[in-house]
Amino acid sequence: LPPVNRGLWRKEDVRRTLPVRGKNSHKGSHGKGVMVGGSLLMPGSIAMAGRAALRSGVGLLTIATVERAISSISPYLQEATFVDMEEKEGALTGQATDQLSGYDGVAIGMGMGRTRGAKRLLEAIVQGVDAPMLIDADGLYHLKEILDVVKERQSPTVLTPHPGEFAHLTGLSIRDVLQSPFSCSREFAAKYGVYLVLKGPSTIITSPDGKQRVDVSGNAGLAKGGSGDVLSGILFAMMLQTDSLMDALGNGCVIHGCTAESLTEEKHSKTDLLASDVIEGLSRTFRTIS
Ligand code: APR
Ligand code: MG
Repeated sequence: LPPVNRGLWRKEDVRRTLPVRGKNSHKGSHGKGVMVGGSLLMPGSIAMAGRAALRSGVGLLTIATVERAISSISPYLQEATFVDMEEKEGALTGQATDQLSGYDGVAIGMGMGRTRGAKRLLEAIVQGVDAPMLIDADGLYHLKEILDVVKERQSPTVLTPHPGEFAHLTGLSIRDVLQSPFSCSREFAAKYGVYLVLKGPSTIITSPDGKQRVDVSGNAGLAKGGSGDVLSGILFAMMLQTDSLMDALGNGCVIHGCTAESLTEEKHSKTDLLASDVIEGLSRTFRTIS
């Protein structure tokens, strides 16, 4: 592995690298993405991830989920279009990926469930859809057994585990992960050729070639279910709007964390802050950061 090159990624870096929305830009200039996830009993995570992506400037967004969840999600995502996927046991299933081609990127896993059917679909998509892909949450759960498939992907793959999910993926203990997060991240990213966002109070971003960035923004107001889904939405939108994946990931993490910080300074406490508040707080962050 090359020498370690890891530095803090901060607001100034976001200001410097965040793509500007050009006067003549059109929706195609800002990415056309599809998000795959959600299930009958977990429709909220894909809804929040989707709304966070919309609030983060994505040009066109499609949500691929189970038909029975669409009517509950769609009022919250008026700007999105929907694809109804095959369902089994209330979760996504099947091996059909044709509806998912033609996008600039795919985000998968949020609320998709841990059924065998969901695993089959995940595998089909990881293997068969050649586009930049972000995998989170239940997607990471299923991924453990198909890491060799990930390695063979032509397009970039971004994994966004918290330490528990990373421990599951690597077979390490959470303790080991927390004791040496930098080296564990670099080893794994190099071995499978992935970009890794190892989340926590400090978040470490690693490229397949071993570059690392650290985001220290955010606070304990984010220590709640849903925060990770919001982060995935922001990261996905950033990925779709730049060619530099490392910038996209650094920027998404800082935007997520700084939004929580400004909300707990002005309007909320760390106790009452909700992940959905962070989504709506993005407006102010984007207004003031660039
Ligand atoms: N300080 C700063 N940032 C924090 C803090 C903190 N104290 N706590 C959490 N965060 C940030 C993380 O950096 C990350 O961006 O909040 C986000 C949390 O993401 P996840 O851990 O993925 O949380 P989420 O998916 O919303 O909920 C937990 O994961 O293990 C599964 O099934 C479990 O439903 C659960 C879900
Ligand atoms: Mg999560």
